[in-house]
Amino acid sequence: PGMTRVFSGIQPTGEPHIGNYFGAMRNYVRLGEQYGQDAIYCIVDLHAPTNPLAYDKATLARLTFEMALANMAVGLDPQKVVFFVQSQVREHAELGWMFTLSTPVGELERMTQYKDKAGKLESIPAGLLMYPVLQAADILLYKADTVPVGEDQVQHIELAREIARRFNHHYGDTFPEPKAVLEKAALRVPGVDGNAKMSKSKGESSTIGLLEPVESIWAKIRPAPTDPARVRRTDPGNPDICLIFDYHKLFSDDATILEVNEGCRTAGIGCIDCKKRLMVGIERELTPIQARAADLRAHPDTVLGGLEHGAERARAIAAPVMDEVRSKMGF
Ligand code: ADP
Ligand code: NA
Repeated sequence: PGMTRVFSGIQPTGEPHIGNYFGAMRNYVRLGEQYGQDAIYCIVDLHAPTNPLAYDKATLARLTFEMALANMAVGLDPQKVVFFVQSQVREHAELGWMFTLSTPVGELERMTQYKDKAGKLESIPAGLLMYPVLQAADILLYKADTVPVGEDQVQHIELAREIARRFNHHYGDTFPEPKAVLEKAALRVPGVDGNAKMSKSKGESSTIGLLEPVESIWAKIRPAPTDPARVRRTDPGNPDICLIFDYHKLFSDDATILEVNEGCRTAGIGCIDCKKRLMVGIERELTPIQARAADLRAHPDTVLGGLEHGAERARAIAAPVMDEVRSKMGF
């Protein structure tokens, strides 16, 4: 109670899938209900051009809008939390520069994500190396102390702590040392193609879009792999190794989960019937989200207005922090 401020950066990657929904978006809403104006969610568009292979100006604005719309459709309320676009708050880039001044290049070159991404490029943008410095600025600009992230971001948050420590040491106590909080139920949604993890990087055949029409979802669920030992309808199966059963646990009510579990083990239900039962749960979960998304799409000013309101709230927090930083550094 009291001192917690949560920050989370959201990549403007466009069309989220149900892995993003269960693994991240739903938690943003839950944390938003808990922390209100101390839950800060930033669509981090300034990072996007560091990927020269994926960035293009024409799509960035669209992807940013889509990501805002999807989160609002899921229930993120821009009046309740602080939800905005990074490039609309100039202080991010400014604080990023202040941190760049004193962050050792060697520390940045050790970042695993940097090494992975840079290894694939002929010419490495300096921004790719600086990525975690801007990320530290994103967090510290709000003096946030709690950062819910996946495993792959823990190293970056450790660097943000180091950056905060270094600044505090040189200029006096200013920033908290933010903690990475790994989601307890580290929910990993498998891909509908049988991949261990649903991911955009594995392509459309792996993902079920949050806003994908149910007919299109059914076209992916119907042929999805199940227990390979269930060759005939009369063969019993093992739900514990079945992707469809994993999805039931996410979408279906307890009674249905019990029934399909039992039905699979006794060959009382076939895989197609089991998949049809799953579609009931998927429709129940996604239909209201998709209806809100359609409504927001018909009223884009609601989305843009929500983000503008969020940017105002964000600036109100960021500006005095930036004043403090400037004055401590002698600018
Ligand atoms: P993708 O892997 O599709 O590119 P991102 O890396 O942009 O997705 O992830 C955005 C958020 O969604 C992160 O918080 C990440 O942990 C979460 N997430 C992504 N894929 C999954 C998944 N299959 N299961 C659970 N959470 C996921
Ligand atoms: Na990913």
